Amino acid sequence: MADQTRFDKVLTQCKQIGQEHLLAFYAQLDAQQQDALLEQIEKLDFKHIPAWVEQYVKKDGMLAIPTSFEPAPSYPAQPKTAEQKDTYRKAHQLGETLLRQGKAAGFVVAGGQGTRLGFDGPKGNYPTSPIKKKTLFTIFAESILAASKKYNVDIPWYVMTSPLNYQATVDSFEKANYFGLKKSNVVIFIQGTMPNFAFDGTIFMADKGTLATSPDGHGGSLKALADSGALADMKKRGIEYLSYWQVDNPLVHVLDPLFIGLHAMDGAQMSSKALLKAGPLEKVGNFCLVDGKVTVIEYSDLPDEQAHRTNADGSLVFELGSIGIHMISVSFIETLNAGGGFALPFHKAIKKIPHIDAKGNPVSPDKPNGVKLETFVFDALPMAKKSIILETLRSEEFAPVKNATGVDSAEVTYQMMIDRAACWLEAAGVQVPRKADGRPDCVLEMAPSFALFKDDVQSKASSVSTIRSGDSVYLE
Ligand code: UD1
Repeated sequence: MADQTRFDKVLTQCKQIGQEHLLAFYAQLDAQQQDALLEQIEKLDFKHIPAWVEQYVKKDGMLAIPTSFEPAPSYPAQPKTAEQKDTYRKAHQLGETLLRQGKAAGFVVAGGQGTRLGFDGPKGNYPTSPIKKKTLFTIFAESILAASKKYNVDIPWYVMTSPLNYQATVDSFEKANYFGLKKSNVVIFIQGTMPNFAFDGTIFMADKGTLATSPDGHGGSLKALADSGALADMKKRGIEYLSYWQVDNPLVHVLDPLFIGLHAMDGAQMSSKALLKAGPLEKVGNFCLVDGKVTVIEYSDLPDEQAHRTNADGSLVFELGSIGIHMISVSFIETLNAGGGFALPFHKAIKKIPHIDAKGNPVSPDKPNGVKLETFVFDALPMAKKSIILETLRSEEFAPVKNATGVDSAEVTYQMMIDRAACWLEAAGVQVPRKADGRPDCVLEMAPSFALFKDDVQSKASSVSTIRSGDSVYLE
């Protein structure tokens, strides 16, 4: 048996919060399993668990929707006035300077389980590009590599995984030789977890020696960056701005000089990209202003009458949707984590949670039997002293692969990647054959090495051979 004093201490702590059942099978475990179980329990947040159980598990402890909120102001996707054009030009220049000075890094959150897609393994390994079937990770890596070449600097890439997909993610990066990036410039780390609760507040055991846990949500990234040493790594490299995106979106501009520049110029701490919602009830978070602070209200929380409100010109009052793209100042992450850390509100999900019962028999529930708690990164926005929003265009930057078919599915993403490539080529004067319905009559794939932005295509346009109906054209 492992150290008795250690066991006694853990048992006392468990008893104090009504969770002593966690040690019920302790005597049946071998020494290694006992040690692992004690270690897992010791990491629990004993101080806060009782309050979380009361607030979130037994009740729906989410803060009520604020009584008063208004639409959040934003920078438009295209500058309109002469003054705005000047601001965008200066911001773009500043962003490029910061990139050249090595002050920006990429950060993808890839700890999710991708259950809706039904894909086995890390979602970043999903084959996505139209012709070469490059995976999401490959597309991001090639984009970072292209930006590193463009700005003549090594741009580090931070990749957040969960305990469930960390090893598989590392293995795929190893196998692909880090997609051409230097291994030392890719930092893969693991996010935190939360125990899973039964409705009565007891923590489920997955088996006799393991607590049932799940990743703590993408909001956990702000803490995991500090706990994992990634934040210290950024400080060492002189990184000041972290470009955050979700793993499912291959159209994302991983390092956008305009966004970096506007964020830096305005002295913002955490900023967001937004797009005009496709309709009042599109399933994206809504950007609002609450007490003067930029706040995201999830689609499920925005009352229908608010979602449908329109302006005199027919546009939606709450028209800006969140697409999980942020710029985060490294100093903001440091401030959040200083002096004992910070807490984001939890969001409660009622789920089917497999576990063992009091006798140690496995239970696979056929209906929801418990609660998983997660935090969302956008809940940190109101904690920022300053937060800006930059609108972007759906066709330019948002084609998430979330579902197997239908809305936000791989087939939509496939078409949107071709559509964007066609638009970029045409803007540079290259003819693209189109069908009667306006869609490109060819399959196009533009590698990040060919162009990261529409403007990059101009200098390459003369090298593109004539594109005919039915062609498959890969540009690199
Ligand atoms: C999310 C946003 C929604 C936004 C939409 C845009 C939430 C709650 N909602 O929805 O406002 O409009 O994306 O595409 O986020 N992740 C982790 N660890 C976790 C959980 C998630 O790293 O513990 C990562 C996932 O790998 C993914 C991202 O966070 O990259 C988003 O998670 P997902 O569950 O796909 O969010 P959505 O419900 O699609």
